[in-house]
Amino acid sequence: MTTHLAPVWFQVTGLDVVEGSGCWVTTSSGEKYLDFTGGIAVVSTGHCHPHVVEAIRAQAGRFIHAQVNCYRHDLLEPLAERLSEITPEGIDTFYFANSGAEATEGAIKLAKQATGRPNTIVFQGSFHGRTHLAMAMTSSKTGYRAGHAPLPSGVFVSPFPQCLDMAQLHPGLSIEQTDDLAIDTAIAGLRFLLASQTAPSETAAVIIEPVLGEGGYVQAPPRFMREVAAICAEHGILFIADEVQSGFARTGTMFAVEQCELQPDIIVMAKGIASGFPFAAIGASKELMARWPVGSHGGTYGGNPMGCAAALATIDVLTEPGFLDNVSARGEQLRAGLRELASQHAVIADVRGPGLMVGLEFRDADTAQPDAARTAAVISHARTHGNLLVMNAGTWGNIIRFMPPLVVSQEEIDLALADIKAALEATA
Ligand SMILES: Cc1ncc(COP(=O)(O)O)c(C=O)c1O
Repeated sequence: MTTHLAPVWFQVTGLDVVEGSGCWVTTSSGEKYLDFTGGIAVVSTGHCHPHVVEAIRAQAGRFIHAQVNCYRHDLLEPLAERLSEITPEGIDTFYFANSGAEATEGAIKLAKQATGRPNTIVFQGSFHGRTHLAMAMTSSKTGYRAGHAPLPSGVFVSPFPQCLDMAQLHPGLSIEQTDDLAIDTAIAGLRFLLASQTAPSETAAVIIEPVLGEGGYVQAPPRFMREVAAICAEHGILFIADEVQSGFARTGTMFAVEQCELQPDIIVMAKGIASGFPFAAIGASKELMARWPVGSHGGTYGGNPMGCAAALATIDVLTEPGFLDNVSARGEQLRAGLRELASQHAVIADVRGPGLMVGLEFRDADTAQPDAARTAAVISHARTHGNLLVMNAGTWGNIIRFMPPLVVSQEEIDLALADIKAALEATA
């Protein structure tokens, strides 16, 4: 069939889908698939949650586009107020945008304006988006950057604590010891960067994903996060949490930084915020937002009423009693099932991740080298012989990431585990 679609989109499944409901998508030929991609961790309340659908439907009949520079519509304040209730302490003022990349870039613009400093520090393995500055801040894969030079300057990459690598380098040490070594090495790297390449007085912000997403579902150890935040506070550098992928209940708490007991200066949100309606937000304190000069940032669609309605309805669902408990319980169930499989398949090097942000890492059992081929084979088999949709992550493409809708049931987790088990056995 002739296609008029740009081939630049990398296709994970090649399936044509016509509808989605909860954790399931249906193809044009009527096949049903269990969607553990969640639209790349987006459909937090599941595909077409009735409460979200109703909110979007009702809003479409009232106002589709009420441009924020022209006039204020009546969902802006309610959404900002609701976000102030669920975001970490100190975050009470919000700017709205349409995508994660737009929001991460916006957060850096805010940090530069607020501090009067030019540079940004990011962490090795991070992904912050596909626009030019966001590409410059992304180091999870060369493919996201290659061919796009020159990228904006002023971005410096600091090491991220890779505890699994450290454990493999030091088989004689305990996990606690290798974790500590990984954290201390990464903190030393950050201090070195501040002494050698971007002076604190030139550094506006440090931006970090509390759980590396594209970089392989690696959670930043809480002590590491706290020490980074302390270094930032010491030097007047703003600490930005990129919660685009980890936010909105994905990790079992509303935001992943809650698990580190720290207060970011700026928090960036998108993906799960509106169950799939394109929407994003930047949150900070009133005082910090007041340092963003009027008119120095904006956009045609940011804060659009349809997105606000979808976000408000999504937050209603995510804050229902017991919702977070289900995320934690299903995540625990999934990790337990995967650990059981790991005990039978030496190629599985790690099962990790908080809540329903679960990673399964594949390494050759003899050489400990990343095994992208086996990862791809398992993903493909789970789709073609089972009915499970999952995708990979990580610099080497050797991690399967599980990011189902957060409404996933016990039975659906069991179905997914059965498909992964069959795929592991068939590809051994
Ligand atoms: C942590 C993180 N930041 C930013 C982005 C960019 O978001 P978007 O694709 O909506 O531009 C992503 C997307 O995967 C992400 O995972």
